[in-house]
Amino acid sequence: MKNKVFFNNKICDAENANVSVFDRGYLFSDGIYELIPYFHNKPFLLSEHYNRLEKSLAMINLKNPYAKEEWINNIESLVNTCEFDNFSLYIQVTRGVPESIEDGVLREHAAIKNYKPSVCMFCSQIQDISEDYIRIKNTITMEDKRWLQCDIKSISLLFNTYAKTLANKQGAYEAILIRNGIVTEGCSSNVFIVKDEVIKTAPKSNLILPGVTRSFVIDELIQKNGLSVKIESFKEDELINADEVFITNSTQAILPIGKINNKIINNNEIGNITKKLYKHFLEFLE
Ligand code: PDD
Repeated sequence: MKNKVFFNNKICDAENANVSVFDRGYLFSDGIYELIPYFHNKPFLLSEHYNRLEKSLAMINLKNPYAKEEWINNIESLVNTCEFDNFSLYIQVTRGVPESIEDGVLREHAAIKNYKPSVCMFCSQIQDISEDYIRIKNTITMEDKRWLQCDIKSISLLFNTYAKTLANKQGAYEAILIRNGIVTEGCSSNVFIVKDEVIKTAPKSNLILPGVTRSFVIDELIQKNGLSVKIESFKEDELINADEVFITNSTQAILPIGKINNKIINNNEIGNITKKLYKHFLEFLE
């Protein structure tokens, strides 16, 4: 099976996908990305992901290279080549390469030239979301040392990938990030706690990525099923002492947490509310 890559209007085999070393994405992480899950070949929350892509582009002052219909056509032409049933579609847009380097300046911080943006997309296989798949995960906490514009889905993920690697090396799935004693989010997920049957998650702000799954869980799974939720910040000790903790992201939906550092949560079992939400999630996919 060959993975294909969409790069600037062309689809090629993964091993032939190349980008210029002068691309500002490569030199400066000057770009944004989006990740859309497909379950059983159907995109999940496509419009919500597209809307966030548009917002990220606007926030870094990068003109959307395509109209929405062009995006949809390009996505379809790539996805049609994909042989997986469950996969994530990765989309990356960078400011790209200078239209001319005849002035001899190959790298400059300020984006003051004309650039040809680079659009790249590819599909990666992911696990099916099913009753059998739900797994309890370990996490660690870490100081959130990212910049203060975490609401942009920037391709600059140096701290996130550092934190995730450290977590994995310690046998944990995720690093939960703490800024000034307050839980912000996971390095690749949003974080929810449950205490006395009330669910809590951090409000949208520049300190977190506005997760598409986070909003879906709040609006469609929590509120429509009459569960109670508070959208407010919580401290690290509330996290550690929660009855249940779960994290959300596009590829794995809802992940129950059984351990944070050395503290066991809910006897390392999936909590009742987390189970309910997962069940509602599966019903939505049917
Ligand atoms: N990341 N917060 C951060 C820092 C993330 O990287 C992600 C997802 C989320 C959850 O967002 P969503 O529900 O829209 O996936 C929150 C993706 C999966 C990634 O970087 O691959």
